[in-house]
Order: sequence, then structure tokens, then C-alpha cells
Amino acid sequence: MGAYVSNLRSVPSEWASRAYVDAAGHAEKYRRSVAEPEAFWREESACVDWIKPWTKLSDSSFEETDFGIQWFADGTLNVSANCLDRHLTERGDTIAIIWEGDDPSQQRTLTYRDLHQEVCRFANALKMLGTTKGDRVTIYMPMIPEAAVAMLACSRIGAIHSVVFGGFSPEALAGRIQDCDSKLVVTADAGMRGGKQVPLKANVDQALKHCPSVAAVLTVRHVGIDLPMAEGRDHWWHNLRERALPECTPEEMAAEDPLFILYTSGSTGKPKGVLHTTGGYLVWAAMTHHYVFDYRPGEVYWCAADIGWITGHSYVVYGPLANGATQVMFEGVPSYPDHSRFWQIVDRHQVNIFYGAPTALRALMREGDEWVQKTSRSSLRLLGSVGEPINPEAWEWYWRVVGEERCPIVDTWWQTETGAAMITGMPGAVAMKPGSASLPMFGVVPQLVDGDGKVLDDTAEGNLCITQSWPGQMRTVWGDHKRFFQTYFTTYPGKYFTGDGCRRDEDGYYWITGRVDDVINVSGHRMGTAEVESALVAHAKVAEAAVVGMPHEIKGQGIYAYVTLNAGEAASDKVRQELVHWVRHEIGPIATPDVIHFAPALPKTRSGKIMRRILRKIAEGDTSNLGDISTLADPLVVDGLIATKGD
Ligand code: WTA
Repeated sequence: MGAYVSNLRSVPSEWASRAYVDAAGHAEKYRRSVAEPEAFWREESACVDWIKPWTKLSDSSFEETDFGIQWFADGTLNVSANCLDRHLTERGDTIAIIWEGDDPSQQRTLTYRDLHQEVCRFANALKMLGTTKGDRVTIYMPMIPEAAVAMLACSRIGAIHSVVFGGFSPEALAGRIQDCDSKLVVTADAGMRGGKQVPLKANVDQALKHCPSVAAVLTVRHVGIDLPMAEGRDHWWHNLRERALPECTPEEMAAEDPLFILYTSGSTGKPKGVLHTTGGYLVWAAMTHHYVFDYRPGEVYWCAADIGWITGHSYVVYGPLANGATQVMFEGVPSYPDHSRFWQIVDRHQVNIFYGAPTALRALMREGDEWVQKTSRSSLRLLGSVGEPINPEAWEWYWRVVGEERCPIVDTWWQTETGAAMITGMPGAVAMKPGSASLPMFGVVPQLVDGDGKVLDDTAEGNLCITQSWPGQMRTVWGDHKRFFQTYFTTYPGKYFTGDGCRRDEDGYYWITGRVDDVINVSGHRMGTAEVESALVAHAKVAEAAVVGMPHEIKGQGIYAYVTLNAGEAASDKVRQELVHWVRHEIGPIATPDVIHFAPALPKTRSGKIMRRILRKIAEGDTSNLGDISTLADPLVVDGLIATKGD
């Protein structure tokens, strides 16, 4: 561990003097957040305008008997009013969104006043289509301003949005629409990524064959392609927009009213609808955005995440807009038209704060420094990382080549379930260690435990739990409160279990080591191995499948699938391709298996349980130490797998 300590990068002095909190302020705020939560949150929750102020801080227990989570419960507010209306007097003409299309010649800007009007119009259109408070609205959109507009419009009228990433297949979309019974789907004719069209509306049409609950589809014209429109069901946004007034009174919502559902993968079963509520989530998103990115009026902020993921919810839409920030929203990919794209955007819009994922950095790093160096990047002052552990090599590249050793890097660990950043750096307060997400955010109490739940103190490595509730914590799994409790609070009773492994060093810094459950992280996207398995076994030729993660230079983890074919089916490259296409079709391109290993049999215990530990080792190419295989029903299966690897 000494090596890490010698790598410590101290807080640059100009940051220590300019930041909202310096090291002493950070320590004091953290202390108060835990020791005097009432006073702490009284102050910090003022980052949000309340219609009716809260009087009761929280009522949150992780114990089975009185399990339930509530924050600021008797307060009322409206999220869209916080993100828009309250900025109008001082910042109405300030740019809220600078949109940059996939095609570099396409740009749009919207001021806070423009955005307010668009959101009001969109909210009125939602109402025209019969949407009311509590209804679910599925949003399946490219990265265009209307995606944020649709989300904010839902929050304005109290509808619950469920954003589905545009890279998911019609099948995956249908499952997510059905699970929460959406009545309305918002989409676009198509999206553009890397010069290619993504046929969003056509995918919706496919999905809706299985979704009787959907009465209406609202389509934004973006690419400008001709589409079949179903009479009575399908509406063009530009048509409704003409009739929709640019004013709409925001609904007064209780702090614990649902704000959104976002589906995410777990270690078992189908994706879970993570539910976030109004007051606690907004305070958490806005407060963390404020301290972690140290945003100042006039600065340009850019989070490169898609709104289909939680990072896009908290750090493209709700956090920055609640704080009145000016931000870039980018439709495309880092490699199109060439590998300079990110940095060209930084120069064009004079971006000061850039927040991205390690997988993109690794991909760009491979292409060579010249793509970065031919741009100026002199506007950059702060860099962020999210989604997966950043390996020290990528960190150093980010620091040295992108930021020219001038820009602090904030590594932010968090999850869909946690709403916003939980363990994170802060530019003026926390010295950096490459590869460590550093210290807990105010109000977050991490704990490391061993496999038996024994608490590990001081320097230790174990499973990461959080022992106390925080405002942005998810409140339930949509439609399955029991599953919420079972998934997160039963492994280590009385604690929220994150599913991540973690090490704490002698300075109290946290180092996330990756998932310890059956969730894998492919290019920063969460994927349940069970989901890929169930897609594979749904194929007529497949008898059985087991999926594990494998190390991947760019993606962090790749998908390694062991497949046993039905008797009489012969393994071939053709079948392999068929299966790869099948998984893409069932889930989407992000679930494309990297390796399909045809396995005559899978290693199972005598009780029939697949021993994934062994499958992981073989996938990693580490067969020298497979551990105890004596409990296998047929230990020879393992030799068979090792022998057929790479066939
Ligand atoms: C991983 C994304 C290390 C982690 C915000 C977590 C990270 C999962 C980091 C959640 C980080 C996210 N360092 N690992 N800075 N950020 N992770 O729900 O394994 O898409 O459990 O939320 O990503 O992924 P999710």
C-alpha cells in the first residue's frame, strides 16, 4: 500500500483557496453530517426551494421490523421549478444547455428561459395525452435537449418517468414498459451515434406489440425520417407543441412522492425498477454536484454520460440544472468523426469541468496522445471519473495528457441505488490517490465487513456496506418492496450492502475493487450475468448457459459465456454468431458476448449448483489455482473446459 501513498497528489493551492470547502471544511462538514444530522441537513437542504419546509428530518430504518426509508417527509416542492423557474429572474438568459450533435456541424443552445418554456409546453402536451400525477411515462430517447425536457416535464406534473437507454433492444424496452405499466412512451424518430442511425421509433413500434398498457406515443422529430404513425396512438411532438402553452403551474409534490424509476441489473432475476423520490433525491443530486464539481456561475460543465443511466439523471439533468449550471449535452461518441472529438468539444464550448467514464479514456488512450495534444484544452480546470474503477494507468493518462497536470481528478463511486456520489474526491479538499475514490461524501457512513458480516476496522479489505440512510437512497423496487429489502438488507442484516468489494488504507481512503456478486461492469454499464444467461437459454439450440465477467483492456470487463448446446446440435462459428446476434436482439448491443465457449458440460456441485468461481478463473485464464474442486459432481468437466478454451 506504500506505493499508493507515495502517489498522493496534494490539493493544488489555488483550489484550496477557491473551493467551497477546503480540507478543514471538509472534515468539519463530514463530522457534523454524522454527529448533528438535523442541523447539517437543515443547512444543506436549503440548496433546494421548498414550497412547504420540512420539519421532520428522516425516518429510516434498515431493520426488518420497521424497515422503510423517508427523508424530509412533510416538506413539499417541485423538481422542475427548482431546475428552472427559480433561475429565471437572475439567470433567465444564461445558457442552460449547449447541445452538440453527433454530426459536428450541429449545435443548439437553450437558455434557462427557453428550457422553461419547452418544459411547460411539453408538460401541457403530456396532459393533453391524458397523463396525470403518478402515471408512468417511459422515455426512450437520444441525447437531445428534448430528453431532458421530457424528464423535467414529467416532474412538473408529478408523472413518474422511466428512462430506458436508447441502446436497449425492443424486447428489453417492452419488459421495462410492462413492469411499470407505462401509459405513454416518449421517443424520437431516430438518434445518431457515430454517423449511424438508431431506429428508436421503429423499436418502440416493435416493443408495443407486447405492451397493451400504452395508449399514446409522443415522437420528437430529430433526424427527419419518414415513419409510419399509428392513427390515434402516435403523435408528433412538433404538432402538439403548436397547441401547447409555454406556461404550466408546477404540481406541489410531497418529498416522498416518486420522481422516477430507473431499471438496473442485479445479480438475480430481471432488471429491477429502482425508485427515487422527490425531496431527498434532489437535495442529494444538487448538493453533491455543488461540492464535487465546485461549480461556479459562468463555468461550462460537461458530463458525458447518457441520460439512460443514473449518471445522466443526476449529473446531466437534476444536479446541474438545480444548480443553474451551463452545460454541454453531447449526442455522439468519443471516436466520431475522429478520436479528438471530446477535446474538440471542450475547446469549442470552452468546457471547464469534464466528467466521463474510464472505459472511454482507455479507448482514447490506446489511439495515442496526438489526438488529445492537437487540441488546446486550456479551459479545463477539473476532471471527473465515474462508473467503474479507474486503473492507475488510465488515471495517470487523464491527469498528464488530458489535464496537463493542472486539473484535479474527482473519482466518484456510487450506484443507481445511491442516487448520487457516495465516496468521492473534492477538488479543493481531498488529496488524490490515483485509483481511489477517496473519502465518503457528507452523511455517508461506509463500513467494511468480511464474508460472515464481521466488521473490519482500520486498514482492511472486505465487502462495502453503508450503515445509515442518506437522502438520495432508493426507496423501493417498483412493485416489489420485499425484493428491495431482500436484495440489499439481508446479506448483512441492518446494513445496505452495495455488492462491491473495497479496501480501506491507512489514510482512510477507499479503493473499490469491483463487484463481488454476479453483476459485471461492461464499459461502465451494469449487466446481470443472469440476464445474459436467460437470453441465451431462450435460444432453441441452447440447453444451458453460464455467464461470467472476464478482464477486458478497454471495457474493464467483457462478457464470457459458457454454452451447452442441445443434444444433436453441433458447435460451429455459425452457431456462435447466431448466439451473439440473438443476445443483441434480446437485450441490446451493450450485452454482446465477447467470448462464447461451447462447453459439453458445466462444472456443478452434487446438488446441481454451477460453480461460477471456477468458470471465472478459466475465463480469466488463471487455471493454476482453481481451489477446491472436490465438491464437483464430475471434476473431469473442468479439464474439458480448460482443453476447449479458445477453440
Ligand atoms: C461501479 C453508476 C469504482 C461499482 C454511477 C458500482 C465504480 C457500479 C465507480 C454501479 C467508481 C461506479 N469506482 N467502481 N468511481 N463508479 N462503480 O448503478 O461497481 O450503473 O457498484 O451506477 O459501478 O453502477 P451503476
